[in-house]
Amino acid sequence: MQFEKNILCIGAGYVGGPTMAVIAQKCPQHKVTVVDINPTRIAEWNSPDLPIYEPGLDEIVKETRGKNLFFSADIEGGIKEADIIFVSVNTPTKDYGIGAGKAADLQYWEKTARQILEFSESPKIVVEKSTLPVRTAQAMEKILTSTNNGIRFDVLSNPEFLSEGTAIADLQEPDRVLIGSMETESGLKARDVLVEMYANWVPRERIITTNIWSSELSKLVANAFLAQRVSSINSISALCEKTGADISEVATAVGMDSRIGNKFLNASVGFGGSCFKKDILNLVYLCRSYGLHEVADYWESVIKINQYQQERFVFKMLNAMFNTLSGKKICLFGFAFKANTGDTRESPAIFIAKRLLEENAEVVISDPKALKNARADLKGVNGKISYVEDPYGAACGCHAIAIMTEWDLYQNLDFEKIYRSMAKPCFIFDGRNILDHEKLLKIGFNVFPIGKPAMAHFDLS
Ligand code: UDX
Ligand code: ADP
Repeated sequence: MQFEKNILCIGAGYVGGPTMAVIAQKCPQHKVTVVDINPTRIAEWNSPDLPIYEPGLDEIVKETRGKNLFFSADIEGGIKEADIIFVSVNTPTKDYGIGAGKAADLQYWEKTARQILEFSESPKIVVEKSTLPVRTAQAMEKILTSTNNGIRFDVLSNPEFLSEGTAIADLQEPDRVLIGSMETESGLKARDVLVEMYANWVPRERIITTNIWSSELSKLVANAFLAQRVSSINSISALCEKTGADISEVATAVGMDSRIGNKFLNASVGFGGSCFKKDILNLVYLCRSYGLHEVADYWESVIKINQYQQERFVFKMLNAMFNTLSGKKICLFGFAFKANTGDTRESPAIFIAKRLLEENAEVVISDPKALKNARADLKGVNGKISYVEDPYGAACGCHAIAIMTEWDLYQNLDFEKIYRSMAKPCFIFDGRNILDHEKLLKIGFNVFPIGKPAMAHFDLS
């Protein structure tokens, strides 16, 4: 079959994979190829067992793979035939040199830019999908035009707003698609090509175009605002625990103000994921580099509260369990950074598991999708750790359960059965406020929610 356009995506990860699957589904007239330097990842994308868990993804890949969606390790061939190249490689926070722990590590991204330059034989539209610090599109353009080889490259910024766990719905019906371009004749022409592609399924009024800097900055700011809401409600959860107010009641009352809205007001053990911390760090780094220290401090406090919330959670466990966890067996229900994903990047569960092990507790980790990643995250960490997928088996013989991830399955467990199998006294620390606390108390558990009064069978004062 003759395709209208060849679309390539470099990077077959949590962003590249689902995004290209949906583009292939919505644009059958285009050929979509996804390449990656990791051949095992490509082999997994070509197998029945996809490398990432995302509700609805399997079906779309089954529908399109081999028709107009292809996964390949041939980066050179992919670049040669592409008209539009999406760059979706990882941009973690630097862990070395200048800006370590703050700035984005652009080595994978720059390597990609150089590969595009090396293998291109025809004009390309290059689309930034990775979360990048502001002004990298300009750097990309500089690399691409560095050899004067006569090939035209237009760089666009098209930030990804998908949220893991709901990625397919977010891609199929996005709140908005944002496209930033250079305001030159060819920049605007390239922008229109991308607008046309999205217009295959996204209403035109939801496709917004801006200059390239606004587009890049908007991505960082959107994530910073979302993370700020979580840190705001989490900071108030600490106050609720002191005063006897209930964080869920406060969140409902506050969220009913239509100017505020009710989303992203669930107090939790802390936010995780590959984007929030990294994007705020990028924002902070950017502000500092322009001498805007007050602005940098303001955004940095969102991360500090997130760290505080996780430390507070461990302290609460220690305090409730008579100030020693040594030799006690604690079961973590959930390890993913949120429900409906197997992703554990920056998951609060990593920090909490490590801290519990430092207190000489024995940790049993349970999660329906994230045990493989959990094993990798805790590789080489000293202490007694075991991984048990079945929550009943995991909790058996434990002194405490801590809810880390809001998986639905934890709400529907038989807690009477779990209680009978555990060491007494039994504790539940609900880091997501998803359980029926009254019912648990009646069964015999001592219950410690977030931002609500603790409920115990002994004197808490
Ligand atoms: C986020 C943005 O939502 C998305 O638009 C962007 O493209 C990538 O970053 P993601 O990291 O997949 O998406 O997850 P998100 O749903 O935003 O949750 C982030 C973290 O905040 C999770 O750990 C989640 O559990 C936590 N959270 C969220 C809360 O603790 N409380 C809430 O009320 C909402
Ligand atoms: P994200 O959440 O941003 O999608 P991931 O880590 O899940 O991040 O995916 C990024 C993918 O990019 C990885 O599979 C990685 O192997 C791939 N990658 C990194 N550098 C390159 C490169 N130069 N060429 C091709 N693929 C790359």
